[in-house]
Amino acid sequence: MINAENIHKRFGAVEVLKGVSLQISKGEVIAVIGPSGSGKSTFLRCLNHLETIDSGRIEIEGAVLASTDANGHCHYAPDAEVRQICRKMGMVFQHFNLFPHLTVLQNIIEAPITVKGMKREEIIPVAEELLRKVGLFPKRDSYPARLSGGQKQRVAIARALAMEPDIMLFDEPTSALDPELTGEVLRAMRQLADEHMTMLVVTHEMGFAREVAGKVLFMDHGEIIEARPAAELFANPEHPRTRAFLDNML
Ligand SMILES: Nc1ncnc2c1ncn2[C@@H]1O[C@H](COP(=O)(O)OP(=O)(O)O)[C@@H](O)[C@H]1O
Ligand SMILES: [Mg+2]
Repeated sequence: MINAENIHKRFGAVEVLKGVSLQISKGEVIAVIGPSGSGKSTFLRCLNHLETIDSGRIEIEGAVLASTDANGHCHYAPDAEVRQICRKMGMVFQHFNLFPHLTVLQNIIEAPITVKGMKREEIIPVAEELLRKVGLFPKRDSYPARLSGGQKQRVAIARALAMEPDIMLFDEPTSALDPELTGEVLRAMRQLADEHMTMLVVTHEMGFAREVAGKVLFMDHGEIIEARPAAELFANPEHPRTRAFLDNML
C-alpha cells in the first residue's frame, strides 16, 4: 500500500529525515515510536505530501508520488495525480483540526462534497453511519467547542473515514488528551484495525502499539533504528537507543 524508500528531508541546515524507508501492506498496522523531534511527524507528512521530500521515492498503491533521478533530483507526479494519490490516505492529527464554525456533521460531509463532488443526500447517511460507529451520533449537530477532546478526535477519525481512504495515518492522536479520554479514541482505532484498515500510527501509547500493531518502528534522529514485530521489539529491543527509550516510557 505504501512503499517509501530512502526518504531524505531537511529544514534549512537540519537534516530531519536521513534515509527513511517503510513498506506497509494491505491491512497491516504499523506503529511508529520515538522521542520528540526524531522526525515522526515529518515522515508522515511527507507520505501524504503535506511536506515535500528532498530525495527518495514514495509509491502509494503502486502509483509513484515522488521519485529521484540519477542526478539526485526529486520529481513529483503532476498536481492532479498527486491529489488523487493523496486522497487514498486519511490523516488524523494530534490537535484534531476540526472546523470550529461547522457542526460535527458538517465537518464530516465538507470534504466529500467539496473535494469529491458528492451530493449532500448521498454523504449524509454515510456520515451518520460513521458517527454511530464512533459513538457520536447524538452529537451530530453540536459544534466542536461543545465536545471533549476525546469526542473531537473521534469526529476527526469519522471525518477522515468519510473520504473512504485505503490507508489511515495517525499522528499522536491521543497525545493532546487527558488520560481518561485516550481509551475511547484508542478503542475506535482498534475497531478500525479489526476491520483490516491499513494504518500507520505515530503514538506514545505503548500498550496500543504492542497489542494492535503488527510491526513497530523505533525512530531516532531522523532514522529508523529498529523495525520489528511488536511483541519482539517490546520484549527484547536490540538497539541500546530503543532500550533506553522504552525504559524511559515505562
Ligand atoms: N516546518 C518546519 N520547519 C523547520 N523545522 C521543522 C519543521 N517541522 C519540523 N521541524 C523540525 O524537524 C525535526 C523533527 O520534527 P518532527 O517531525 O515534528 O518530530 P516528531 O514528530 O518526531 O516530534 C525537529 O527538530 C523539528 O524542530
Ligand atoms: Mg510529532
